[in-house]
Amino acid sequence: MSEWGAFTQIESGKGVWLTDSDGNRMIDAVGSMWCNVWGHSNPELVSVIKNQSKNLQHSSMFNLTNEPAEKLAARLIRISPGMSRVFYSDNGSSAMEISIKIALQYWKNKGEKKTEIATVKNGYHGDTFGAMSVGYVPEFFGKFKKQLFATIQFPVPNKYRVPKGFTFSDYQDHCLEKIERKLSENNKIAAFVMESGAQVAGGVIIYPKGFQRKIGQICKKYGVLLVLDEIATGFGRMGSMLQYEEQKSIPDIVAYGKMLTGGYMTMAATLASKKVYDSFLGEFNNWKHLFHGHTYTGNPMAAAVANKNIEMYQKNHIIKRIQKTAKVFERYRAEISEIDIVGDIRHKGMLMGIELVSNRARKTPIRSKKSINKIFFEEGKKNGIYLRTLGNIVMLVPPLAISEKDLDLLLQKTIKTIQGARHHFV
Ligand SMILES: Cc1ncc(COP(=O)(O)O)c(C=O)c1O
Repeated sequence: MSEWGAFTQIESGKGVWLTDSDGNRMIDAVGSMWCNVWGHSNPELVSVIKNQSKNLQHSSMFNLTNEPAEKLAARLIRISPGMSRVFYSDNGSSAMEISIKIALQYWKNKGEKKTEIATVKNGYHGDTFGAMSVGYVPEFFGKFKKQLFATIQFPVPNKYRVPKGFTFSDYQDHCLEKIERKLSENNKIAAFVMESGAQVAGGVIIYPKGFQRKIGQICKKYGVLLVLDEIATGFGRMGSMLQYEEQKSIPDIVAYGKMLTGGYMTMAATLASKKVYDSFLGEFNNWKHLFHGHTYTGNPMAAAVANKNIEMYQKNHIIKRIQKTAKVFERYRAEISEIDIVGDIRHKGMLMGIELVSNRARKTPIRSKKSINKIFFEEGKKNGIYLRTLGNIVMLVPPLAISEKDLDLLLQKTIKTIQGARHHFV
């Protein structure tokens, strides 16, 4: 904390550009912490917020509902195969807490003693205690290890770091066999929780084809609920509306957040299948209902802007557009790889992770006494780009609707920044 001093103050945003209080302009390569879709100050989204604010700014969802929230729930169900109901919250971590509670209570409601949770190593689902427990990135959560609840964690295949003695393909089979063996032996496992499509905060580990689908099949075979986290990877980030559709793994419970409102208001949602929802029905005295609620749940301004955002996805064919624009990333792959501290480049859709190493042969992550994040932030700022690293990984997560021209510029600036920061690590 003391390394940073004063933080750069952002005064305004327009399109993919941020302007600070000294008048410096930076391309937002972080997409407002991975949630921005249409760029900043989009007039359509701004006007929806303005109009909704004149009518109803907030009203509780306790015994009540509101039109934007109802419309949004119907819309989310329409775009989410296999899902039947929506439970609102106001951030991704809460949406995951709710997912976990629904999964555990489902079995209680059914009168079955399934209380354990399986996950994959290195996952990230948010910073609250339940979310930390089902995730676990040691650097983030190590200090709270004792307070986290126990989960059963399985390895994830990472093509760049395959353990000795395995080919990548063998290692995938090995991971899946481990999962199947455990789920077949242990009938206390309530749910399998994982990010959908890729682990993002855990280092942009993109699952190999078929990996998630096979986990889904194993879960079905052994009666374990599949809980997917689409918060960072869904809504177009990885080039399809929902990763679970692309991966052919329909979950029992799924969480959305980040891009749900285009990145303009705070909102998240947990969706459940009919089977799961029905287990919560009963007379009050059966105590089958879910005790969970947040003050700003189903906020009408957030719901109104989310409705507009999803309408715009459809009207502007954003998924197709992302698939086309994302090719710009590939055009720069060779040039990025030429920088000697680049160990690996992982890319899909509007997400790229550039892993930096001090020794390519040994794949030693770059290290520094100073914050790597700060080094890149400052170098990026000099080059007119807002960058944020995760450990030794430069993350490129721009607004989804970025133009090819702006993405081109963003990648040129990224290369310049890595080259400029290089001397800190060699
Ligand atoms: C996959 C995933 N799940 C959950 C979260 C938590 O969301 P929030 O920061 O809105 O609490 C994040 C945040 O980065 C995430 O990447």
